[in-house]
Amino acid sequence: MSSADCRVVVLISGGGSNLQALIDQANNYQVSAVFSNKAEAFGLERAKNHNIPSHCLRLKDYPGRGAFDLALADAIDAYEPDLVVLAGYMLILSSEFVTRYHQRLLNIHPSLLPKFKGLNTYQRALEAGEHWHGSSVHFVIPELDAGPIVMQAKTPIEASDDVVSLSARVQALEHKLYPKVVG
Ligand code: GRF
Repeated sequence: MSSADCRVVVLISGGGSNLQALIDQANNYQVSAVFSNKAEAFGLERAKNHNIPSHCLRLKDYPGRGAFDLALADAIDAYEPDLVVLAGYMLILSSEFVTRYHQRLLNIHPSLLPKFKGLNTYQRALEAGEHWHGSSVHFVIPELDAGPIVMQAKTPIEASDDVVSLSARVQALEHKLYPKVVG
């Protein structure tokens, strides 16, 4: 890591296995701070373990969505990030927030976009009889899971697959994909 490295702020809501991969494989970038909208998100512990500043901003602590998004963006900007990276952040961000980080906001979504936007992607891919599933890193635009795709990783769906086996395989791919794209 050097002072010239790209500064990355990561937003999470849960376990943070992608955050961990981003920290462990940081190359040409540094994870400057982590924000969660859930106090119990294990990803906050992961950040603390690496002495990375971590913060919890909860929607319910603000008078409304506009005030929340503004407070979140101001807190993020204190770290002067080059990139803001969503890694399992489960709140849909307002178009004002997305516009503020135009071309600096990335998300990882567990499907081969444009297929299976939204939730329960593993179940839906299995039910649809897909032959392949995977994950996509894309720029965020106001429309959900619809921004320009940067890179994808995919795996064949086996006849024996269920949500558990398929998600484990895709998540292993994500842990290589996201650090590569951010780097
Ligand atoms: C990932 O599978 C990602 O594709 C989706 O949320 C999940 C986050 O998992 N957006 P984790 O918290 O990084 O383990």
